[in-house]
Amino acid sequence: MFITVERAENGVRMIDQRVLPTREEYVTLRTPEEVADAIREMVVRGAPAIGISAAYGLALGATQAVGTDTATFDARMETLFHTMAAARPTAVNLFWAIEAMRAELRAARSDGLDDAATADRLERRARTIHDDDLASCKEIGRLGAELIPDTASILTHCNAGGLATAGYGTALGVVRSAVEAGKNIRVIADETRPFLQGARLTAWELMEDAIETILITDNMAGALMRRGEIDLVVVGSDRIAANGDVANKIGTYSVAVLAKEHGLPFYVAAPLTTVDLACPDGDGIPIEERDRSEVTSMFGTPVAPPGVGVMNPAFDVTPAKYVTAIVTDRGVARPPYGTSLRALFDRPAPG
Ligand code: MRU
Repeated sequence: MFITVERAENGVRMIDQRVLPTREEYVTLRTPEEVADAIREMVVRGAPAIGISAAYGLALGATQAVGTDTATFDARMETLFHTMAAARPTAVNLFWAIEAMRAELRAARSDGLDDAATADRLERRARTIHDDDLASCKEIGRLGAELIPDTASILTHCNAGGLATAGYGTALGVVRSAVEAGKNIRVIADETRPFLQGARLTAWELMEDAIETILITDNMAGALMRRGEIDLVVVGSDRIAANGDVANKIGTYSVAVLAKEHGLPFYVAAPLTTVDLACPDGDGIPIEERDRSEVTSMFGTPVAPPGVGVMNPAFDVTPAKYVTAIVTDRGVARPPYGTSLRALFDRPAPG
């Protein structure tokens, strides 16, 4: 079994998702700045996984700052909070994890802890963020599997699996849990241009688990729905607004509209840390624009004429009206999401 991310001796170790599935390689980042670069360059990606990576990067920074003085330590941490926050803009789990680490630093200081004890507290908090995410994925899987028929062909987009989380996955956690419950499941994976998370990552990790997987290009989903090859859709999310609008990998919106047209359920699976109540609706979600080269070339080979105009939004927003249910680690929210999502925050976290 692969390890998405872990705290290693003097660093943060992660599987390099840029070279999967052809090579299974691990990199060890030795500074928090290297961790931020790895998030930006998508060595690690997926909303919960980048939150966990940032937390470990901050813990690493704190441990390395021990031995200076308290003012220098705290100033260094403040710089690192900003460095991590600048890595990628859309997944709110990144900002949630940074705020959790900042709150831990404040709590340690108000308890009168010295730098070494504060760094220990931050190390423990990062590990808790990691452990809690695994427990969340298991609960999302358990709740989501109850929505899946005994035999189902499930379309998914991007990678919301073990590679995008502490392990097990959100959307793929639902798939895994349904398979573990003895259901007869086939996954249809959109390849997910331009970064190919579906082809390179989802197909790889499902095949590692011997779960039946059919790979399609993104433009095939509608035709396959029309042919009756797809029973339902399950995707992950990078940020869910208070009204239930869902930001996820570019292309998700098209899939949701197609699902509605064909009368198919469209489920979103995500931990409550992905819900951003401060964002009233999807218009407030920042959408990352990535480099043009991701569109104009593949694996270093140009696929477009030099100088062509390019747009490369990495995410889109699916309006809440297309979402059948949002499966979280604290329960399943149904429309109207303005009230159902908020109510979940009063329930205890799993684990
Ligand atoms: O650009 P990425 O690969 O980080 O985008 C990832 C996604 O869109 C996932 O679906 C989302 O983060 C949920 S991961 C459990």
